Amino acid sequence: MVSSVIACITGAQEYGGGPIVFIKPVRAVIFEHRFHLGKKLNCLSCHPDLFAKKAGEVEEKEDFTMASFNRGKYCGKCHDGITAFSVNTKCNWCHIGVQGHKRLEEYELEIE
Ligand code: HEC
Ligand code: HEC
Ligand code: HEC
Repeated sequence: MVSSVIACITGAQEYGGGPIVFIKPVRAVIFEHRFHLGKKLNCLSCHPDLFAKKAGEVEEKEDFTMASFNRGKYCGKCHDGITAFSVNTKCNWCHIGVQGHKRLEEYELEIE
């Protein structure tokens, strides 16, 4: 039991990054690999078809919007109320806002 938990955490941190925070078009939306691995998901669930392995790429796309998610693109491929909670609910699970982003940056400064 313990070893499978460790394997999962290692997988999530393999790329060496913490949370990814999107600031375009709105500040700020959080994405964390650690909640997206294990269970039925693996790297191939998202890379390379859905997202590049490079933070900051996808938010440059004009259609990285709620309208696209509602049509099943990007985050909406899974956040459709079946595979994962829908983009029409729980706005603040993803949208941490300006204050949430500030707190995250302060926290990261402290642990460095
Ligand atoms: C549920 C979708 C999802 C899964 C599963 C996933 N990723 Fe990602 N990954 C993303 C997103 C979204 C980004 C940010 C892309 C962007 O900003 O354009 C990202 C970015 C990255 C980056 C770039 C990080 C940086 O700081 O530039 C790496 C490396 C990466 N992922 C590796 C992995 C590996 C390795 C796995 C499997 C262990 C994995 N990802 C699984 C969605 C996922
Ligand atoms: C390949 C499928 C997939 C994609 C793509 C995906 N997610 Fe998820 N996400 C999940 C699953 C599964 C969960 C687990 C929660 C659930 O079962 O409802 C989850 C959980 C989350 C959570 C909740 C974490 C917590 O606090 O428990 C957030 C926030 C989130 N996703 C944001 C995003 C964002 C932002 C994107 C797009 C950049 C994205 N996800 C893309 C499948 C996906
Ligand atoms: C699964 C994660 C997720 C959920 C849930 C979610 N959003 Fe979003 N939202 C995003 C992402 C990712 C972006 C694009 C990145 C950015 O703007 O920083 C975005 C962008 C937006 C934007 C700006 C772009 C546009 O479409 O106009 C608005 C407004 C927005 N969301 C409103 C909402 C509202 C209201 C809810 C709840 C009903 C919600 N979102 C729920 C992830 C989510």
